[in-house]
Amino acid sequence: MSKLNIALIGAGRRGGGAHLPVIAKLKDVYNLVAICDIEEEVANRYAEQYEANPYTNVRDLVAHEQLDVVDITVPGTAHHAVACFMADAGVNIIVETPIAATLPMTDLMIETAKKNSVKLEVAENYYRAPRERFLSNVIEAGVIGEVGRIYRIFYEGGYHGMSMLRLRANGEPKSILGITQSTPVIPIIDRMKRHHTSDNWTLGFLEFDNNATALMVYSNVIHARSLGRGQGGISQIDGSEGTIVGEEIHIVHPEDLENGARSVGYQPKRTIIDVDGVEVIEKIELTLRDGVITWDNSLKRYPLSEGQIAVADELLSIANAVINDTEPEYGAQRGRQDQEMSIAMSESARRSRETLTFPLTDFTETERETHESYEQQHGHPIDDIEAGIDTFFPRR
Ligand SMILES: NC(=O)c1ccc[n+]([C@@H]2O[C@H](COP(=O)([O-])OP(=O)(O)OC[C@H]3O[C@@H](n4cnc5c(N)ncnc54)[C@H](O)[C@@H]3O)[C@@H](O)[C@H]2O)c1
Repeated sequence: MSKLNIALIGAGRRGGGAHLPVIAKLKDVYNLVAICDIEEEVANRYAEQYEANPYTNVRDLVAHEQLDVVDITVPGTAHHAVACFMADAGVNIIVETPIAATLPMTDLMIETAKKNSVKLEVAENYYRAPRERFLSNVIEAGVIGEVGRIYRIFYEGGYHGMSMLRLRANGEPKSILGITQSTPVIPIIDRMKRHHTSDNWTLGFLEFDNNATALMVYSNVIHARSLGRGQGGISQIDGSEGTIVGEEIHIVHPEDLENGARSVGYQPKRTIIDVDGVEVIEKIELTLRDGVITWDNSLKRYPLSEGQIAVADELLSIANAVINDTEPEYGAQRGRQDQEMSIAMSESARRSRETLTFPLTDFTETERETHESYEQQHGHPIDDIEAGIDTFFPRR
């Protein structure tokens, strides 16, 4: 099988730090031919490091390279412009999260990809992490019964959080209530070099069509533990027969149900192997009284750290879709739904905590403001693709 030619656009923190090292390890699938970044120094630096051709704009990139796949890691407000341009050039796409800033921009991307018959995958990585894949197997095996309520407090928020809640609820969202609050924090620069002066806090309460509910609390500074103050978090999934607390699976055995209902907590066990000097997770296993539940790492032949497995998984999803002419595993519609739920949470908060129902049918005030601030900042309307690809989108 011939390898796919891939280029990365936007070699900033996520592109350079997370995607490029993984693309380089997927040598049997990808030829990394080019790196494009509007900042010349960034394009040259990474191109040299990865022995690829540097470009500072996507027009030159498509004019000079034969590409099968493009990995878009420019800032989120630029996704639709770069993606629509690349789709019109006939190149298959994997785009970082969120799929796009608003639903009209997302729909423009989806339509443009469809019109050009190119595949479009979203680099949603959270559910692809080994721990989450393993917990999906535990829930699917019925170990905790039917999921009733999910709590994710001070973990990922926004579209990532929505993706996880929908997956864990295993249902379609019916409604959402959102609350937001912003409070000042002493100015700090966190370990990712992000500047913070406020704690932007959000709460989302979701109802799903199968009667499951979810509570998500997020803060821009607490989820990444940016304040360094030892703040904790809660990840808990309550089912009819058991609860997952963090990674520990709690089950009350039949003989204990009617005399105090004390659970037994089961801890999963990771098996680590050495692949080219890298500690690679081979499997995660949960040994219960009446059986074993396992997640096997299908990518264990690659020297990938636990954190890199999700990135490899998404990159291989678009590769498989292109090679076999199938749909990517996550796909644009799920990415759209994550953004729809996230926008709905902000919109609910903005409308003094009005509960909103899905699907969203109107263009929201939240999105109108996003379009307006985009135009103010960049000097062209958000749907001007040609102007968008020539714009420098600064780090947040
Ligand atoms: N999945 C995750 O867990 C996760 C985590 C962090 C960031 N992200 C996403 O990754 C993307 C990148 O985030 P980041 O923090 O790396 O951003 P960043 O600002 O550090 O990097 C973006 C790069 O894009 C370049 N760029 C800007 N405009 C361009 C243009 N018109 N053409 C070509 N290059 C251009 C910039 O020079 C910069 O090097 C965003 O969509 C973000 O939401 C996802």
